[in-house]
Amino acid sequence: MTLQQIEVPDSVKKIDYHEGAEHLIDTANEAIEAFMLADQTVIENFVTCDFHLLDQALTWVEEQHLLAGNRFCEWGAGFGVGAMLAAMRGMEAVGIEIEPRLVQEANAVAQSLGNSAHVYCGSLVPRGVEGLAEIANEVRNVDTEEDDTYDEIGLNVDDFDLFFAFPWPGEHGFFEHIFDARASTGALLMTYRGREGINLVRKV
Ligand SMILES: C[S@@+](CC[C@H](N)C(=O)[O-])C[C@H]1O[C@@H](n2cnc3c(N)ncnc32)[C@H](O)[C@@H]1O
Repeated sequence: MTLQQIEVPDSVKKIDYHEGAEHLIDTANEAIEAFMLADQTVIENFVTCDFHLLDQALTWVEEQHLLAGNRFCEWGAGFGVGAMLAAMRGMEAVGIEIEPRLVQEANAVAQSLGNSAHVYCGSLVPRGVEGLAEIANEVRNVDTEEDDTYDEIGLNVDDFDLFFAFPWPGEHGFFEHIFDARASTGALLMTYRGREGINLVRKV
């Protein structure tokens, strides 16, 4: 692995929310609640991260000048709130989500907010990542199917400067492996780790 840990301080939780972030999060949460109530079949792998903390972490990354460029990708986007928070601050932001019903909902919320983020339907797993099959055996909550989603987006994994993912406990290694294998040097991978908060690594 060629990943360098970047310590995100606890004080990140004291950063003011970005202008418009609270409205975006409230709108998304209302849509998520309505979707959950209306939907008969539970999407087991879909749980939401702490959107407020994610907004603060994105501001911190900007303030620290850690970004090598302007492209953001949310891996396993759900309702695409991460991608929308990134787009709101001027990033060129996309999400990748494998569950079509979530993709539809995410893009409807983005449209209703006039937010430029777009969520693509497909797998975040690019084809032919070496050594991924062994790690995939230990992963239960990520669909490990390979796909051509990046072709549809028109960008490669190494075109993005910041990835965000909310892995299930113990499954962050799967995302780190893809990131390490395919992202460009200097790119960042931010993951939400529940009670442990935000984790950040850079490919070096
Ligand atoms: C824990 S949820 C996180 C949702 C969102 N990122 C958030 O933080 O609120 C993980 C999402 O990843 C999606 N997912 C699982 N495997 C995937 C894959 N191979 N490609 C794209 N999305 C995937 C699931 O359907 C689920 O919506």
